[in-house]
Parts: sequence; structure tokens; C-alpha cells
Amino acid sequence: MSDPVVLITGALTGIGRATALAYARQGANLVVSGRHQDVGEQFAGELSDLGAPAEFVRADVRFDADVKDLVDRAVARFGRIDVAVNNAGTAGTPGPVTDVTDEDYQAIFDTNVKGTLLCLKHEFRVMREQSVGSIVNVSSVFGLMGYPEATLYVGSKHAVVGFTKAAALEGAAHGIRVNAIAPGFTRTAMYEQFTGDDTARDAVDSVLPMHRAGTPEEIAEALQYLGSDKASYLSGHVLTVDGGLMAGGPLLSSS
Ligand SMILES: NC(=O)c1ccc[n+]([C@@H]2O[C@H](COP(=O)([O-])OP(=O)(O)OC[C@H]3O[C@@H](n4cnc5c(N)ncnc54)[C@H](OP(=O)(O)O)[C@@H]3O)[C@@H](O)[C@H]2O)c1
Repeated sequence: MSDPVVLITGALTGIGRATALAYARQGANLVVSGRHQDVGEQFAGELSDLGAPAEFVRADVRFDADVKDLVDRAVARFGRIDVAVNNAGTAGTPGPVTDVTDEDYQAIFDTNVKGTLLCLKHEFRVMREQSVGSIVNVSSVFGLMGYPEATLYVGSKHAVVGFTKAAALEGAAHGIRVNAIAPGFTRTAMYEQFTGDDTARDAVDSVLPMHRAGTPEEIAEALQYLGSDKASYLSGHVLTVDGGLMAGGPLLSSS
């Protein structure tokens, strides 16, 4: 696939941003999406400066009309979508299950679950017409295991894995591959928020197999592979990129 057209949600920070930059260096055509117009336009300019034709489209993935508009504008600009990266997500506010409110549920599930579903819906609409396409959903190692006091986030990322498998089966007949990436702890704003402060972060890092969290660039590298033709016989797959975290069960390391 030369000069692929790549659409990325939640592209203005962290893993989404690193993924957009990695694709730009590969010479892709990019549609980057997020909720902040000024930052988005500036980022599209940076990508263009790297030689990648790029368009920013403001979209909040919780809303069907926004996601429809995002996908339609990607097609209007570039004529097709080869790779879609459904990355937008939120960790919400972790806490005991007894404290969960309707608002907490909505905050996490509307973005992580409904948002991913809406992206799949509209991306499938285009990719079915093309009879080809590759979708990468961003789940988490918490889509494969539990974590205390993160019930909503864990549940939402398990749902993303379920969507990935069902959509992979539906897409197979139409030339559409659907996979998920499951990052472990990765140094982004979300990781900072989830871990709290430097002391807590050091404590988490010390029990990780490699004694460090991953970088957004390391996730982007694996994500690009999953989306590419090099992974042409992979579908319904969940690729963990976690420094070995899931290899021996959670939070086990030697000193
Ligand atoms: N960092 C980790 O340790 C880790 C581990 C496993 C999985 N992940 C997953 O990786 C993905 C990227 O997260 P990150 O670590 O790169 O953190 P991040 O920098 O906070 O990125 C999340 C992005 O999603 C956007 N977003 C949130 N809600 C949105 C909505 N309703 N509509 C559109 N965009 C929305 C955010 O933009 P706003 O500024 O508009 O909120 C932000 O740009 C997430 O799905 C996350 O769950 C992260």
C-alpha cells in the first residue's frame, strides 16, 4: 500500500499523535481528528511540513453526526480510507465500584465504547464500497485483564476487544481487516492521570517487567504494522504491546 490514506481519532495527543507522525514520515495522506480546532489545524500544518498531505476534522466520537462528517470529509479530500485508527479514549476517574455514577459510566462508555462503534459503523460504510480496508481499534491490556478500582475503564476496553472480533468476522467477506492493539502502561497524559504522581509512577514502573512504561512511539510502530499489508492475514487479532506485562501475569517482575 503506497501513500495510504489514514484516518486517526484522538490524534492530537499521546498515542494518536505519535501514530500520525509515524505515518507522516512514511508518506501517508492523513486525516487527523480531535476536539480542539486550533490545536488540530496547527498539527495538520506540522504534518504537511513533514511532506504528508493532512487535514484536520473536528469530531467528538460520542456523536454519530460528528463521526459521519469525519469519515465523509476524509473521502471528500482523499477519495478513500485505507487505514482507520480508532484511538480516542478516556480513563475517566478511577474509583471503587460502589462510587460509580451514571455520569462516570457515560463519560467512559460513550467515548470508549459508543465512539468505537460509531467509527466502525461509518468506516465500514466506506470500506465496504472500496472492498478493502484495515481498521485498528485501540484497546488496552485492561481489555484482557482486570485492574482494581477501574471497573468502567476495564469493561469499556473489553468491549473494544469484542467489537474487534465481531467486526473482523463481518469484514472478512468484504476485504476489511479489523484488529486491536492493547498497549500496556504508556507514557502519555492518560498514564500521568491514571498513576497520579511521580512516586506512584515510580512504583508502577518498578513492578513492570522492563521497569519502565512504553513510549507512544513504540505503540505507534506496532500499530502501523497491524494496519499495513504486512499483516494481510491478521484479522480479529489483539496485539499486546506491553513490555512483557501479559507474558507472566500482571505486575510480576524480578528486581
Ligand atoms: N497511556 C496508556 O497507558 C494507555 C494504555 C492502554 C491503552 N491506552 C489507550 O490509548 C488511547 C490513546 O490514549 P493516550 O494514552 O494517548 O492518552 P491521551 O493523550 O489522553 O489521548 C486520548 C485522546 O483521545 C481524545 N478524546 C477523548 N475523548 C474524546 C472524544 N469523545 N472524542 C474525540 N476525542 C476524544 C483526547 O482528546 P481531548 O483533549 O479532546 O480529551 C486525547 O487526544 C486511548 O484509547 C487509551 O485508552 C492508553
